[in-house]
Amino acid sequence: MTARIIDGKAVAEALRAGLAARIARLNFRPGLRVVRVGDDPASGVYVRNKDRAAAAAGFDSATIQLPAETRESDLLMLIADLNIDPAVDGILVQLPLPPQIRPDMVIAAIDPEKDVDGFHPVNAGRLATQQPGLVPCTPKGVMHLLRAAGTALAGARAVVLGRSQIVGRPMLQLLLAADCTVTVVHSRTRDLPAECRRAEILVAAVGRAELVRGDWIAAGATIIDVGINRDAAGKLVGDVAFAEALPHAGAITPVPGGVGPMTIACLLENTLEAALARRG
Ligand code: GUN
Repeated sequence: MTARIIDGKAVAEALRAGLAARIARLNFRPGLRVVRVGDDPASGVYVRNKDRAAAAAGFDSATIQLPAETRESDLLMLIADLNIDPAVDGILVQLPLPPQIRPDMVIAAIDPEKDVDGFHPVNAGRLATQQPGLVPCTPKGVMHLLRAAGTALAGARAVVLGRSQIVGRPMLQLLLAADCTVTVVHSRTRDLPAECRRAEILVAAVGRAELVRGDWIAAGATIIDVGINRDAAGKLVGDVAFAEALPHAGAITPVPGGVGPMTIACLLENTLEAALARRG
């Protein structure tokens, strides 16, 4: 038996096509502004991909590029302008930021109704208290993939590996809302392999190349690999040793081509949701 591959590229394309069809019926174009401070080359590729996908789906999308030495106060003033700009439905400030700028201050300055990253404490609080709000893109993409893979969620034992603000914690909330029995494990967990072996659904989001070995995986489990790492040879790999996992798992996402493409699609989905909530 070998695992079914969950094709994130195809699921993301279908999601983006659905968004484009909905936008074509609107009498306005949802507006997205991506703010980039400095020129970290990795985030350059990411920002260009966002722009391309947004334009193709019919969004009014633009990237605002600021110099690396931008002062925090100047960035906060730009955000204040975007908050009141009626053409702007979604604001995303690309992370990481240069050291003179405090990310928490910047995230808190974004209008929660335009916070398409779902990072604002108001949106984190809404998610934790089961109120409607903007949900972080990567965990939202993971839920789309689980549903596309046909994985039964209610009552399933789900293990989230990693407790980050961006993935692990919101992932816990979303799986719990879908009636999974959720365990969050992390670097200080006593016996990681044993905890992972209990998982019918395993979401790996720790950023450690191929940490999860084949014998950590229960027969037939659904494996969602959020990690994007380089191995010693410079090859792009996930948090799961993919080849080892194949004979154990029931279904698994590849890296690349799994969770990655979903993040941008969900950013666009959040931007459309924000636009509809704001403009009715
Ligand atoms: N940098 C890498 N991924 C992300 C993301 O999802 N949002 C933001 N704002 N910055 C990022």
